[in-house]
Amino acid sequence: MSPATHGWWRSAVTYQVYIRSFADGNGDGIGDIAGVRTRLRYLRELGVDAIWINPWYLSPMADAGYDVADYRAIEPLFGTLAEAEALISEAHEHGLRVLLDIVPNHTSDRHDWFQAALAAPPGSRERARYLFRNGRGDNGDEPPNDWRSCFTGPAWTRTTAADGTPGQWYLHLFTPEQPDLDWSNDDVRAELLAVLEFWLGRGVDGFRVDVAHGMVKAPGLPDVGYASLDLDDNAVAFVWDVFPHPHWDQEGLHEIYRSWRALSATYPEVAFVAEAEVGAIDRYARYTRPGGLQQAFNFPFIKARWDAATLRSIIDETVRAFAAVGAAPSWVLGNHDLPRVTSRHADGDATRGARRARAATLLMLGLPGGAYIYQGDELGLPECEDLPADARQDPIFHRSGGTLVGRDGCRVPLPWSGTEPPFGFNADGATSPWLPQPSTWAALTAEAQEDDPSSTLALHRAALRLRRSHPGLAGERFSWVESAPDVLHVEREVGFSVLTNLGPESVLLPTGTTVVLASGPLDGIWLPPDTTVWLPPDTTVWLSPDTTVWLSPRDAG
Ligand code: NOJ
Ligand code: CA
Repeated sequence: MSPATHGWWRSAVTYQVYIRSFADGNGDGIGDIAGVRTRLRYLRELGVDAIWINPWYLSPMADAGYDVADYRAIEPLFGTLAEAEALISEAHEHGLRVLLDIVPNHTSDRHDWFQAALAAPPGSRERARYLFRNGRGDNGDEPPNDWRSCFTGPAWTRTTAADGTPGQWYLHLFTPEQPDLDWSNDDVRAELLAVLEFWLGRGVDGFRVDVAHGMVKAPGLPDVGYASLDLDDNAVAFVWDVFPHPHWDQEGLHEIYRSWRALSATYPEVAFVAEAEVGAIDRYARYTRPGGLQQAFNFPFIKARWDAATLRSIIDETVRAFAAVGAAPSWVLGNHDLPRVTSRHADGDATRGARRARAATLLMLGLPGGAYIYQGDELGLPECEDLPADARQDPIFHRSGGTLVGRDGCRVPLPWSGTEPPFGFNADGATSPWLPQPSTWAALTAEAQEDDPSSTLALHRAALRLRRSHPGLAGERFSWVESAPDVLHVEREVGFSVLTNLGPESVLLPTGTTVVLASGPLDGIWLPPDTTVWLPPDTTVWLSPDTTVWLSPRDAG
């Protein structure tokens, strides 16, 4: 088989380490590399194949590290380059691949390049690396076009010239502290490629590409025409949701990605996953064409309502669109930008939310392709909706004057052990975690779930173990089996079924089957609402010796 058809990424389960909230090694309240190193064993025992670490580069933290001041330096809050190198090699010793988060669309305003650009005159080589433009209107008082920041407000900030008069404007699709690079500039292309090589030389296995659909802008930076769209001025969503769009999903991106993928001549196993929100699933698949990136986060899947018809069509489209370009599909249920999956599907009932999250997880892990698990989802953590305003750090919250709640609620530091905060996130008596943890998390710590076979942690471990070992889940085979409208019935290798009941009533399990794993208690031969089961093809009880989660042979009924 050629590497194109059996790359490790095609079936890998990648765990997202949101480093500032994972584990705090030095007790300053913020997660760090030292903390991650102490928990690699946990990740290996969980059974994931890879970790993706959110940005750990030098950063003034205007957007939690997505404002990079130096791509080759580690942010001191997180540790040192030597520690980063040690983490990469220790992860490898544990059999875990390491993906970094590369942020190519913008730098920090504290990056040397941007500081030099501010000090240099209009038209200079220094300014040409970013998107500086003269303003419109009398005296250039109006922004150069109507683009809006994804974090509310205009996407342009005016500079002050050396003589104190108002100067040019620069583009920032996110905060003003995150100026956009100009990807038509050769310095920019060469530098980011060199940065990728810098980290590949240190052993990393790939990259998650931040805002992968935003780096190339339409020539001339034309207006979007927001005024004619009649949308709420303070809404963030519409910046993401308008297509076609002059700063999203431009054709020129793919040439950049081909140049990145060419690194596989030297690093054959290097994998890239695009963070691109581009509307139709076919548009996502274009990022994974031969010679391009290998995966694109499945935002339609993560954003889907808990509804059989919706999920059926998204799964169907995904499998079809990625197969059409020779790529494997991939799936994701959570990340650091969206409310936790348990709360997204709760409809006002936390127990229902938790049940659905478990069912969604078993559905996701039963599908062919790659999958991503956001830290804490394996513990079933809920969204923290009632964080005090003065604890919140997300620029979305602050820039919207608190009208948009922002993303802190899914970023609360993990509970590892013990009965009260900091729950082992750092040592007792250390500085409090950077966001407060709810006291109710005592029941959700990794320690509390460790020996409970019905826990969400145990479910993840069992599912990941079976994914690796069960022949029914090997390969990329996928087909639908006819089912009731509220039920999704997927067949993997011949006879191995993944069944999810999204309806309000229990449904009969197929006869002649034995459940190997279920996301929740079964009712004899009935599959209750909001539950997923994995059914191997024969009636023999097929168990790995320590798979003990909700096993329910059909004769139990
Ligand atoms: C997407 C990242 O996931 C998000 O956290 C960040 O704020 C933006 N890109 C800007 O870099
Ligand atoms: Ca720390």
